[in-house]
Amino acid sequence: MSQERLEVIAGRLLQSISDFAAIGATPAGGVNRQALSIEDRTARRLLAERALARGFTVFQDDAANLFIRREGRDATLAPLLIGSHLDSQPTGGRFDGALGTLCAFEVLEAFSDAGVETVRPIEIVAFTNEEGSRFSPGCMGSMAFCGAGRVEDWQADDPVFADELKATLQALPEAEIRPTGHAISAFIELHIEQGPILERENVPIGIVTGIQGTKWLEVTFSGEAAHAGTTPLAFRKDPMAAAAVAIARMQEEIMPADEEARLTIGRISTEPGSINVIPGRVSFTIDIRHPDAAALAAIERRVKEQCHAAGRRWGCDAAIRLRVDMPPARFAPSVTAVIADTCRSLDIRSRTMVSGAFHDALFVGRVAPSAMLFVPCRNGISHNEAEFVSDEHIVTGARVLLGVAQRLSQDQCPRSG
Ligand code: GLV
Ligand code: MN
Ligand code: MN
Repeated sequence: MSQERLEVIAGRLLQSISDFAAIGATPAGGVNRQALSIEDRTARRLLAERALARGFTVFQDDAANLFIRREGRDATLAPLLIGSHLDSQPTGGRFDGALGTLCAFEVLEAFSDAGVETVRPIEIVAFTNEEGSRFSPGCMGSMAFCGAGRVEDWQADDPVFADELKATLQALPEAEIRPTGHAISAFIELHIEQGPILERENVPIGIVTGIQGTKWLEVTFSGEAAHAGTTPLAFRKDPMAAAAVAIARMQEEIMPADEEARLTIGRISTEPGSINVIPGRVSFTIDIRHPDAAALAAIERRVKEQCHAAGRRWGCDAAIRLRVDMPPARFAPSVTAVIADTCRSLDIRSRTMVSGAFHDALFVGRVAPSAMLFVPCRNGISHNEAEFVSDEHIVTGARVLLGVAQRLSQDQCPRSG
């Protein structure tokens, strides 16, 4: 079929992005569509309905990863996988994840509009719980897909997750449930950069060569609940004091000593959480990141020491659990070369970069040659309702994704590594 007609339809793509942004829309213009929530299920349903209306096949796996498949000439070949996720942070933006999923759907529609028969099938994926805000770890769907984590373990660990996963799977009865982790030929994920580099340099496409490492720790200080007014200093086993000291030390030491290091305390809770009770227990999360695995491990050791020291100082026990351990990943040069080549042929400027955020491609890259392309976002802001990507950058990203998908859905299979 004619190659000239193979093109994304900008108006359709932009409308689709605003249709999905309405699901879980927040008053400030963002979305709250956390993993496996009613809103997440509504978004999955809309995507599935649109896919079925176009004659594509829709299926899920045991991790509730949602797949949409368009057949190629040879159904026995492993499909090319493109996509991202549909879940969001509680005060998330409308583009993080949704952009890559909906651009992937636009690519599939473009192939169908043009009547182009690809050699291999192409599948779109919306991975389950990339964000990790409602259930930990993040990237559950892609971890399960590549065998880096087990749905059964997460179900056993968290009954709410188990119930919500089941309800999400049942909410799409028309989508057959298949075993997790089928073979694919390669994976491409389009995403917003979530940082300031592309915008600052006025470059429309980032070719992502790798992802820095992430560790998530959960720290719990246990002390002794006591009366706020009657308990003298010498009698206090105050886990809030321990947490405050530990957090202050980390913030003062870790990032100032290494400009590549990232450290975030994003969640803190106290029990019983009463104004006039010294808490019995204080828990908080630590998100640490670094592009170098050894430096990341050293930061982990250091924050653990700081927590234990603060616990001793305040007579509290410190329990530290590693919830997520994602080593830095390097994408397949065979795939990044295809993205670079596609940009050149479309006369679109690009630059290579390493991702500061983690993504499903980090895990999928363990089982198939994978890479990502980024588009700029305003002021680098993401995980924020103000997240914004211009229409022009959306369409440019989708055009590059289409060109890459066209190349990779021919019979050649890119090499890993
Ligand atoms: C992804 O959402 C991340 O936290 O990097
Ligand atoms: Mn994302
Ligand atoms: Mn995110």
